[in-house]
Amino acid sequence: MADKKLSVAEILAAARKADKTGGGAEAPAAPAVEAAAPVEKPAASAKPTAAPAKKPAAGGARLSVAEMMAMARGQKAGGEAAAPAAPAKPAAKPAAPAAKAAPAKKEAPAAKAEPVDTQSILSAARKATKPGPMTKAEAQAKAAPVAADTKKAKAKEAIVVPPMPVKPDYAKPTAAKATKQQVVERRAFLFGMSALAVGFSALSATAAAWTLGTVRFMFPNILREPPSRFSVGTTDKFPAGQVEERFKAQFGVWIVNTEYNGQQQIVALKSVCTHLGCTPNWLEAEQKFKCPCHGSGFYKDGINFEGPAPRPLERYAIGIGSDGSIEVDKSRTFQEEMGQWNDPACFIPV
Ligand code: FES
Repeated sequence: MADKKLSVAEILAAARKADKTGGGAEAPAAPAVEAAAPVEKPAASAKPTAAPAKKPAAGGARLSVAEMMAMARGQKAGGEAAAPAAPAKPAAKPAAPAAKAAPAKKEAPAAKAEPVDTQSILSAARKATKPGPMTKAEAQAKAAPVAADTKKAKAKEAIVVPPMPVKPDYAKPTAAKATKQQVVERRAFLFGMSALAVGFSALSATAAAWTLGTVRFMFPNILREPPSRFSVGTTDKFPAGQVEERFKAQFGVWIVNTEYNGQQQIVALKSVCTHLGCTPNWLEAEQKFKCPCHGSGFYKDGINFEGPAPRPLERYAIGIGSDGSIEVDKSRTFQEEMGQWNDPACFIPV
């Protein structure tokens, strides 16, 4: 009977019954107290509201309905864990749990920090300095020590970096290779520059040609030829049987001292082949003029004797000048086949 947990309805029913029975119900009140006892013990350890119930229980006083209700509510709120433990101990020892619970309550505040009152907090806040408004000079003066300290700190914090190792060849940067786009742009630029260069060169050449043409226009259009009359020297410089070739290259003339029709004469032979106009050569060893083109041959006096040449060489006019030297006039020619070699203008008798 004592191990059974009474419900709230049972407690209320017992309380009402006790109220109805009045003062002669002392004996029945005992069960009520016993019933309340299990509730009383956990109430004393958990909530102070159960404390008043201890006194009637210890003194054997009868509980009122309100007290029982309070006890019931405390039991209900106390949880299932506290309720079963209470019946194990008698109701006569309610102080023991209270004594055990007391140290537990004291340990909790001891673990907390010391209490700080509002006055101490306010006084600490008033002691703190506030920056407030200040001038630029004050701000600089205030910031100067800070900057100096910062510089000192940075100087102290300067780290000595060890020298870098020498890079190997493969790690050294090489000449950057031109990208494809750069190559295309460079080619286009060079092509454009080349076209411009060609254009300007052609323009410059045209301008130069026009300038030269203009300068040439300022001079007469004449043929620069050696003079047709020239002196070759005195007669003593041309001994008999000699063929002088000094004037062949410049004047196209051989000065020959030869015999023609039984008369020794100094004549001026024209160095032009009568075949097709080539220039024959004098062959001293063979004592003849030989044309290299078709092989025509001429004697020393100019008469043709071999090859395709149809007639003898021609003579220029020759005479003695005012200074006594021999003068040759290329403006006049004399042909043997036409009987012109008999003209004294084409020979100097010696
Ligand atoms: Fe002299 Fe023909 S040109 S032999």
